[in-house]
Amino acid sequence: MIERDEALKLVKKYVDTQNSVKHMIATEAVMRKMADYFDEDEDLWGIAGLLHDIDMEEVDYENKPKKHGPRSVEILKEEGVENKKILDAVLAHNPDAGKEADSLMEKVIRAVDPLTGLIVAATLISPDKDINKIDTDFVMRRFEEKRFATGANRDIIRTCKNFDMSLEKFIELSLEAMQSVSGELGLE
Ligand SMILES: [Fe+2]
Repeated sequence: MIERDEALKLVKKYVDTQNSVKHMIATEAVMRKMADYFDEDEDLWGIAGLLHDIDMEEVDYENKPKKHGPRSVEILKEEGVENKKILDAVLAHNPDAGKEADSLMEKVIRAVDPLTGLIVAATLISPDKDINKIDTDFVMRRFEEKRFATGANRDIIRTCKNFDMSLEKFIELSLEAMQSVSGELGLE
């Protein structure tokens, strides 16, 4: 399987925007935490999270949402990433790509993606803009505010029920994971 360093190099080769790279690092951190929780392979889940949006600067998501995911798989194959579990998770993370989220990892990555965005947005409106100074309750309240961070699809985040996790637990674990990389995310 591709090493973490190599995966990060690939991300930086295809993604120029700092915030996008940070989103992928956040997704990696949460996926590692979730793998640990479910006693699954942390490197596998983490690398899938790190690579999941590698096509984001090539695909016009607004107009061609179905291409987001399939194009990543093409890029990754061209770059020699052949691990089917990673490729399937990258494809399945986008509900518009046409692949069901079948495996546990696929279900989790789909739900994690919008939650990382919600947690970043919640941090940025908090008094200190420091992710280490917000808690699960704060993020839960932002979750309930329909007009806050509308890009973070609440229905998709709520699919945590498909892997038998309460929303509160899901937010708690995700927040902890992102706090552990707060420096890399520039959120402290
Ligand atoms: Fe994403």
